[in-house]
Amino acid sequence: MTFDEIRAWLVETTPEKLEKLWLSADSLRHDTVGDEVYLRGLVEISNICRRNCLYCGIRAGNPKPQRYRMSAAEMVETALLAKKLGYGTVVLQSGEDGSVPAEEIAGIIGQIKRETNLAVTLSLGEREEEDYVTWFKAGANRYLLRFETSNETLYQTIHPPVSRGRDSGSRIELLKTLRKIGYEIGSGVMAGIPGQTWDDLARDIALFAELDLDMIGCGPFLPHPDTPLGQDRGAGDVSPRREVPNDQVILDEHLPFKVIALARLVCPAANIPTTTAIATLDPVHGRLLGLSRGANVVMPNLTPARYRKMYEIYPHKAASGETPEETHELAVRQILELGRTVGQGAGNRLAFTAKHGSKPAP
Ligand code: 5AD
Repeated sequence: MTFDEIRAWLVETTPEKLEKLWLSADSLRHDTVGDEVYLRGLVEISNICRRNCLYCGIRAGNPKPQRYRMSAAEMVETALLAKKLGYGTVVLQSGEDGSVPAEEIAGIIGQIKRETNLAVTLSLGEREEEDYVTWFKAGANRYLLRFETSNETLYQTIHPPVSRGRDSGSRIELLKTLRKIGYEIGSGVMAGIPGQTWDDLARDIALFAELDLDMIGCGPFLPHPDTPLGQDRGAGDVSPRREVPNDQVILDEHLPFKVIALARLVCPAANIPTTTAIATLDPVHGRLLGLSRGANVVMPNLTPARYRKMYEIYPHKAASGETPEETHELAVRQILELGRTVGQGAGNRLAFTAKHGSKPAP
């Protein structure tokens, strides 16, 4: 698929044409990764963050969230719950908490592997290469690191560098390093960031293919009132303070699904979640529509109820008032409602490519 084709789909508004996009993504999903929907148990292990990303509610500069870090015992306990509920993967996600030594995290990864044998996905932000190596050796299998936008200037603006520790440089380079170490790599972007143009978003999607991502997680940008980007309405904002490009991406009801569908078309065998941000934008239909338009993964939040509200990266985050069991039951019910099945085992990308090849669709 060429850049021009991707861009044309992004701005397409004709319902009959969009129906075609949904159908081709869904049928490709069926042919490559099948009808199994894989569950990844998401555990938000800490909301402590040293960064000041302009979009994110747990940015260091926001004094409002009460900060927490789950204990090793709580993390292992949650992984055991994921195992008990039938999950093949547990995802440990946190703010960029640079103060936790890599060895400490490696110890927890090792314990989770020994006690559950689940696939372990990490989403802990930017660290030194040696830390990633330590965690891989401890048994971690996959790493999620969204590049957020392929527009270098916009990226630097919304994700200001830090003075100490690893400084981003390029997350795209980091993803290549992670793959070289042996991880399956996942990345993605937010759609509708103020300052993001249609060209930018089309380039983002082309980059998914170029990086040959194993996992692609995308969602709408949701303004958080306690962040600099939440001070205006983002898309369509006319405030004189921030310049809005003429071809600013406009978030509408179709956009998140266009991104999912196009991600499927450019990376046929990738694992693609219908994300929490999508479920937050449309709590009733969001998740189901994602699964019907290219996605094959759901990441139910298994974070203990007492911590959930503190991990407010954007407002009204789906499932923030639920218990892990409730979140899990809803996910399974929705999957079965669609006539799909719950995937068994780890659901590695490699297993899909081995069966179907990794060539992008013509
Ligand atoms: N709206 C939507 N997505 C957000 N993220 C962070 N803040 C927001 C927001 N306000 C996404 C980023 C990050 C992921 C964990 O959550 O893409 O990588």
